[in-house]
Amino acid sequence: MTILAIESSCDETSVAILQNEKVIVNLIFTQYLHSKFGGVVPELASRAHLLKISELTNEALLQSKLNISDINAIAVTNKPGLAGSLIVGSNFAKGLGLRYNLPVIPINHIEGHIYSGHIDKKTNKFPFISLVASGGHTAIFDVIDFQNYELIGTTIDDAAGEAFDKIAKMIGLEYPGGPLIDKHAQEGNPKAFRFPRPLIHEDNYDFSFSGLKTSVRYFVEKELNGNVPEDVFNDFCASVQDAITDVLVLKAMKAAKKLNYELIVVSGGVSANKGLRNKFKEFEKKESIQVLMPELDYCIDNAAMIGFVAYNKIKDLNNLDIYKKYDFLVSSSAIRNHSRLNLKK
Ligand code: KG4
Ligand code: ZN
Repeated sequence: MTILAIESSCDETSVAILQNEKVIVNLIFTQYLHSKFGGVVPELASRAHLLKISELTNEALLQSKLNISDINAIAVTNKPGLAGSLIVGSNFAKGLGLRYNLPVIPINHIEGHIYSGHIDKKTNKFPFISLVASGGHTAIFDVIDFQNYELIGTTIDDAAGEAFDKIAKMIGLEYPGGPLIDKHAQEGNPKAFRFPRPLIHEDNYDFSFSGLKTSVRYFVEKELNGNVPEDVFNDFCASVQDAITDVLVLKAMKAAKKLNYELIVVSGGVSANKGLRNKFKEFEKKESIQVLMPELDYCIDNAAMIGFVAYNKIKDLNNLDIYKKYDFLVSSSAIRNHSRLNLKK
């Protein structure tokens, strides 16, 4: 089965082509135009998706040396995300579906992140703990198989990436600030300043990053007169990063130990963070739990992960006709809370 996959939930336009589980091409266009606004501007994001999506689709077909007539199904992210952005990808997919009589499979973006560690057969292991940490989500899932997973912890306020980005903005760094904090942190001392690790000792898998952000703001205003001096800038970034990553690592680790699982998969844009990756590597050395962090193009928002979930959801061509109604909606709302979810329709 050949799947054309489309992702446009936030500020990445991405088109991928998969043959069964194998990723043939995975093109990602990141909209850097938002950097001067300090965050993603939804209206601009939708327009930018509209401008890029046909070009990327043509390019994906070209690079894979395939024709649209070789495609058996289209997979597209329909939730969660920015409504205007999701509509661009979903309508484009529906249009292609109608024109070429192809089924269109709506896919939950978070499911894409959860299973991204299984792409390219990096692992076949189930069950596992999934930590998804991005700009919009921070959550821990107990993943049983490709059909069943349970949300066991989530952020009660800001996402980890959002905390990185907001703190970065506070200290004068451009959007997205996560990678910039990461860069400065590599030259800094993570123990130079002590910031809170919210909920770290609570007996649950939930996160809270809004209190950390406020505490950092007070510190900058009161202790540093509103400005982080150059000579401690790297230390400051390293200390912020240390606080955020401590909580992520500890909570994921706690869940894996509690459930006696041998695998943690870390995904979402924040999993690119060097400090987080190093901490997980240290943890892996000490415990008999494997930590899998997908390569960067599968960590950030990408269409390969959407096609991969679609393939594992349908698997054989006989199931495809139900997806020819094109009757799905897009939804901006995030993951449902604490209930066992079933991917099968
Ligand atoms: O998964 P993603 O590409 O898009 C969303 O679904 O949000 O994640 C983007 C988020 C941004 O908040 C960005 O600052 C953060 O991931 N991020 C990082 C790093 N690279 C991306 N945060 C910390 N360190 C990084 N190296
Ligand atoms: Zn994402």
